[in-house]
Amino acid sequence: MKFFVDTADVDAIRELNDLGMADGVTTNPSLILKSGRDILEVTKEICSIVEGPVSAEVIALDAPAMIEEGRKLAQIAPNIAVKVPLTWDGLKACKVLSGEGRMVNVTLCFSAAQALLAAKAGASFVSPFLGRLDDINLDGLQLIADIRAIYDNYGFQTEILAASIRSVNHITEVAKIGADVATAPPAVLKKMAEHPLTERGLDTFMADWQKTGQKIL
Ligand code: G3P
Repeated sequence: MKFFVDTADVDAIRELNDLGMADGVTTNPSLILKSGRDILEVTKEICSIVEGPVSAEVIALDAPAMIEEGRKLAQIAPNIAVKVPLTWDGLKACKVLSGEGRMVNVTLCFSAAQALLAAKAGASFVSPFLGRLDDINLDGLQLIADIRAIYDNYGFQTEILAASIRSVNHITEVAKIGADVATAPPAVLKKMAEHPLTERGLDTFMADWQKTGQKIL
């Protein structure tokens, strides 16, 4: 399973990349706002850190302008995946940009029907937002499972990029379902290392080690 880092924070990306935990990066307008940086400049820096796909999102709402923005974003680096929204115009832009050989990530996916359209339009990635479905008491994990079943039924190559991940449990569950990628904030990825029994066990070992009076170095 691939991990993408859902942030435009270059320090966090660098730390996870050094550990081999950043197979790619996803950004969106909210994350660019949070970074406080210029989209072209910060995206270029991210692309120089991470070898895998870096999603950069268009702002236009009509297909022709999305295509122009997508082409401009794709010039930043060869590993850019142009992110377009799952609207009818977004699908048109996806079809054109993927036809030009560019990676396209179709985002804001909230139904299996939408995901089917994204695959038909040639998307490299589809991004179902599971946390936001959970927020309104719908089943985000069931959506991931439904898309997995549909894509497998027909051999679609579009990768399922589970997004809007809010917890470690989300990552474990989408891994069990077979999502190709989980994109998560750095804090959630780092939290995966935590377990209270690990902490407790370490405390005991440290206390016993003190009693031995020994040193390794
Ligand atoms: O990749 C999309 C993701 O950033 C959305 O997450 O937590 O804002 O729903 P969230």
